[in-house]
Amino acid sequence: MGPTLSPDRLAGVADWRTGDLGGRRVVVTGATSGLGREITRVLSARGAHVIMACRSPHKGEAVARELRREVTNASLQVESLDLAELDSVRDFAARLTARLEGLDVLINNAGVMAIDEARSADGFELTLATNHLGPAALSLGLLDLLGRGDTPRVTSMSSIVHWAGRVDLEDLNFERRAYRPSAAYAQSKLANLLFALELDRRLRRVGSPVRSLAAHPGASATNLGHEGSGLVNALMRHVAPHVLQGVSRGAAPMLRAALDPELAGGTYVGARYLLFGPARLERPARRARDSALASALFERTLGLVGATSPGL
Ligand SMILES: NC(=O)c1ccc[n+]([C@@H]2O[C@H](COP(=O)([O-])OP(=O)(O)OC[C@H]3O[C@@H](n4cnc5c(N)ncnc54)[C@H](OP(=O)(O)O)[C@@H]3O)[C@@H](O)[C@H]2O)c1
Repeated sequence: MGPTLSPDRLAGVADWRTGDLGGRRVVVTGATSGLGREITRVLSARGAHVIMACRSPHKGEAVARELRREVTNASLQVESLDLAELDSVRDFAARLTARLEGLDVLINNAGVMAIDEARSADGFELTLATNHLGPAALSLGLLDLLGRGDTPRVTSMSSIVHWAGRVDLEDLNFERRAYRPSAAYAQSKLANLLFALELDRRLRRVGSPVRSLAAHPGASATNLGHEGSGLVNALMRHVAPHVLQGVSRGAAPMLRAALDPELAGGTYVGARYLLFGPARLERPARRARDSALASALFERTLGLVGATSPGL
């Protein structure tokens, strides 16, 4: 059972598309670009206080200035967070926990795709570090704070590409396999979904008020895939902007996962026509529903991020 909501707070989330979000505190990772910027814009226009978690605080401040021009009275706070550096994730979680009384929603949106082979500060393959390990450590690090929020949730951004993903528990970091940018991305997006669903199962088991949900945006024209030197990157830079849906449609599934009071933990929200269209509930791929794999990945992730006793 979640905490009891006051009638006006309950009314505030009654319609996920339009309801007033005044008083709600939301963290959005990757708020500087694409879907994260749009999610931040929509949430702040509806009155939420948005903590923009950005790997470049300088860029974050510039985007916050733009958004304040677009949204009257936007309540935005820029915070430094590099998901590819576990110390940065721990610092961010500690800072927020010290400063806030509670957190209502954590939106794990940030990600990279099809990057050239590289290692994170902690020595992990950079896609895995940015897309899965950092967000997992962040979710675990903010659970206590979320537990003090109103109808608290963690939402994770996956992708239709998770259908092609293989999670290799023996070689998550591409040390034995040859590195392929597309395989690294697909693995990370399958890991996002496995972890989100497993986190929810474990939260239910311990009677936590926090729900974990996931979303995918279809395909949207953003800066995703612009870093990198391959053919996919060239296509993402030059072709995708002309053929993919805009960010307002792409942001809708994540906004629904974050705000729709009707959705139970473990729900996956996507785009109606796979690549585009309004937000609707989706069935994850069979591999993403493999609870034994999810549990093993969860344990392996705890070990890699050094989260020894999150109580789950
Ligand atoms: N666009 C699509 O069609 C699509 C489809 C499926 C899934 N997705 C997912 O949607 C999410 C958002 O992507 P997008 O399309 O909006 O791409 P985007 O425009 O490239 O935005 C990605 C965001 O992630 C941030 N980021 C990257 N590395 C980070 C790190 N180490 N620490 C913190 N933040 C970091 C970026 O910061 P900077 O501004 O500093 O670069 C940027 O704000 C990703 O998880 C992606 O996998 C997108």
